[in-house]
Amino acid sequence: MSSGASFYITTPIFYPSDVPHIGHGYTEVAADVLARWHRQAGDDTWLLTGTDEHGQKMLRTASANDMTPREWADRLVESSWLPLLDTLDIANDDFIRTTQERHETSAAAFLQKLYDTGFIYTGDYEGFYCVGCEEYKQPSELVAGVGPFEGERVCAIHSKPVELLHERNYFFRMSEFQERLLALYEERPDFVQPESARNEVVSFVKQGLADLSISRSSFDWGIQIPWDPQHVVYVWFDALLNYITAIGYGQDEANFERRWPGIQLVGKDILRFHAVIWPAMLMAAGLDVPKHVFAHGWLLVGGEKMSKSKLTGIAPNQITDVFGSDAFRYYFMRAITFGQDGSFSWEDLSARYQAELANGFGNLASRVVAMITRYFDGVVPQSGALQPADEAIRATVAAAARDADAAIERFAIHEAIGAIWTVVEELNGYITEQEPWVLAKQPENRERLGTVLYTAAEGLRALAVLLSPVIPKSTAKLWTSLGAPGALADQPIRTAGDWGQLPAGSAVSPLEALFPRIEQEAGVGAAR
Ligand code: ME8
Ligand code: MG
Repeated sequence: MSSGASFYITTPIFYPSDVPHIGHGYTEVAADVLARWHRQAGDDTWLLTGTDEHGQKMLRTASANDMTPREWADRLVESSWLPLLDTLDIANDDFIRTTQERHETSAAAFLQKLYDTGFIYTGDYEGFYCVGCEEYKQPSELVAGVGPFEGERVCAIHSKPVELLHERNYFFRMSEFQERLLALYEERPDFVQPESARNEVVSFVKQGLADLSISRSSFDWGIQIPWDPQHVVYVWFDALLNYITAIGYGQDEANFERRWPGIQLVGKDILRFHAVIWPAMLMAAGLDVPKHVFAHGWLLVGGEKMSKSKLTGIAPNQITDVFGSDAFRYYFMRAITFGQDGSFSWEDLSARYQAELANGFGNLASRVVAMITRYFDGVVPQSGALQPADEAIRATVAAAARDADAAIERFAIHEAIGAIWTVVEELNGYITEQEPWVLAKQPENRERLGTVLYTAAEGLRALAVLLSPVIPKSTAKLWTSLGAPGALADQPIRTAGDWGQLPAGSAVSPLEALFPRIEQEAGVGAAR
């Protein structure tokens, strides 16, 4: 068991009304990279993901498919949402479904507590609701419909008509938390990240907070309100609680104390739920708010948010079947500034795969292993005294490890990879300049050849450790090929930049191409 600081990170729990697309995959990968990094740093890490199974969207999708919502959720979770985690090599520690008993019981207990302490009252809700968003909407949030919805007011996100509700519901006194929330954003400027998300949240809350309807009585697919079984809990109020019910809130206090507060990683579409409603709920219950709420940007297709409802969704395995899971992970983490929107394109993916993964990193690894095999019978040579060129590599490795760790602390995953990639680039240049194939023909330079190849192999050792949270499959192959001791996942990442950890005398073994050439246009063809 790890003894480090708690690092508990969550993804949103996704609606299994439909199959996942690469937007969901993007969030999963980002959370997994951060979790793997912290796990390898010795932090007490826990990665939670899961599915959000109540609410009208689920109910209607299931009915449209002649199934109960439970059957529909079971089918989608088994056939699509759990397999997504394998497809993308996600090392999650738990998977919560809001239909699980552990969640329903603890969520009901949380509600009862808020009711008992006066934070919930009965009221009338009259207003709009978007089932696609599962969200109450202000008239100002609606836009004019087009096409079949000409003349109607529609949801700005789903472009579909909203519904007018008139229900007697239970309300959460969210308005009471306006000042405390503003104080939180002020005192802890890194509570909501990135800065653009924080600014949006602050100006939203400054406009004033209304109380929130937290129950529905016109359908019954949800968690029953414990003191009034005619009502079910509003799906968002239910769903947000997963972050604490999954770690034992109300059932396993020791584990809850160990993990909480955690970090909520979400897409910016659901920022307000996480940065406003969620901390207000926790404050009402007397619990700590999250350490951070980080909202990443959207994957765009044709300039618009990629989504299933607009039929622009791309299935993750369309990419992984061609390029592999490591390439998926690398591409999205490297090509998009984490926290900003990014456009996906098959051309960019193919180009980066070839230039950065195959030619940059993969080739470097193969060449070094091949030269150790050829010139030193597959045994990592001793390093002699370092010359300035070798010292430069050593310094680059140390700086890369330091800078990458600092970037991960700031959720700047793309910067972390950029810092690590300086090692790939410099090592490639180093080998070109040192020309080990020339040294190999000069018996008097035998020691120098050993130093050069040791330096290169040691650089690869550091690269394997530092890149393993991002590209776990190929770095594991490299690790094995280097004959490095221990399991890669056990190598402490915060000291990965310390020089000389690869023992001379390690036996290397042949390395298959880490990023093989992709058959002509395969990926590009799949997009059309
Ligand atoms: O909102 N780009 O679930 P959901 C990037 N059940 N990320 C995207 C994306 C895109 N184009 N499209 C989706 C819900 N995502 C609720 C959450 S949490 C208590 C409840 C990702 O299935 C991103 O993480 O609609 C976004 O926030 C999430 O999927 C929405 O998933
Ligand atoms: Mg959505």
